[in-house]
Amino acid sequence: MNNRPIAVFDSGLGGLSVLRELIRVLPEENFLYFGDSANAPYGSRSTQEIRELTLRHARELFSRGIKALVVACNTATSAAIHDLREQYPDKIIIGIEPALKLAVSHFPAGRILVMATEATLREQKFAALMDRYAAQCNICKCPCPGLVEFVERGELSGKSVEAVLQKELKNCLSPKPDAVVLGCTHFPFLRDAIRAVIGEKPEIFDGADGTAKETKRRLSEAGLLRSGSPGTVELTNSLQTPEILLLSEQLLSADGH
Ligand code: DGL
Repeated sequence: MNNRPIAVFDSGLGGLSVLRELIRVLPEENFLYFGDSANAPYGSRSTQEIRELTLRHARELFSRGIKALVVACNTATSAAIHDLREQYPDKIIIGIEPALKLAVSHFPAGRILVMATEATLREQKFAALMDRYAAQCNICKCPCPGLVEFVERGELSGKSVEAVLQKELKNCLSPKPDAVVLGCTHFPFLRDAIRAVIGEKPEIFDGADGTAKETKRRLSEAGLLRSGSPGTVELTNSLQTPEILLLSEQLLSADGH
């Protein structure tokens, strides 16, 4: 029973930054990763499209007998988490969100830059999160179209990605932020390029660790934790080409810090 895998879903390769934290926090679990690279990026799609894609892939994953679903995509969480929970009220479903609360706890009156997809930043879910802190902090929303594609093709550093970052962040860097929230699971893979553009000062936060800990808490509460031997990891993708699977393995083993 507890041997059933935990599914980890993303629009593409970004969720691997969450999977590596899940493996660290839950090393004895079996994981089934599914990235929808054939349809990435989700962030520039309509809410309806993102919802349909997410619900379709969730249905397939549940039909494989998974014990929990981690939506390792901020964009899919904001568009579809309510529908998922409504359709599968008895399932364990965890959705990642931009780690704004964590950033505010470190910088209670700070200037905080939130980098996420256009879809995440326009959704009601993010508006509600932002409303909680807007009075005390100075929050700058930064949609970053074009960045996800760099990760999808494995281009994690260099002049081209830095040029896109310069262009997208230029209105938010003066005055310098205290914290930068990576509200898209693809972005932790661009951490060095982001650091090159924002400088040394701002602290960088993402939601991977919080999501992994929440997954552990939910499984423990349900008596579904696996233990006894190291778990397995299966990487799958809607493209399922040798290139995308190799890149998935490389990203999963990339240093996250
Ligand atoms: N990785 C996803 C997220 O966390 C979205 C990337 C995309 O636009 O597909 O928001």
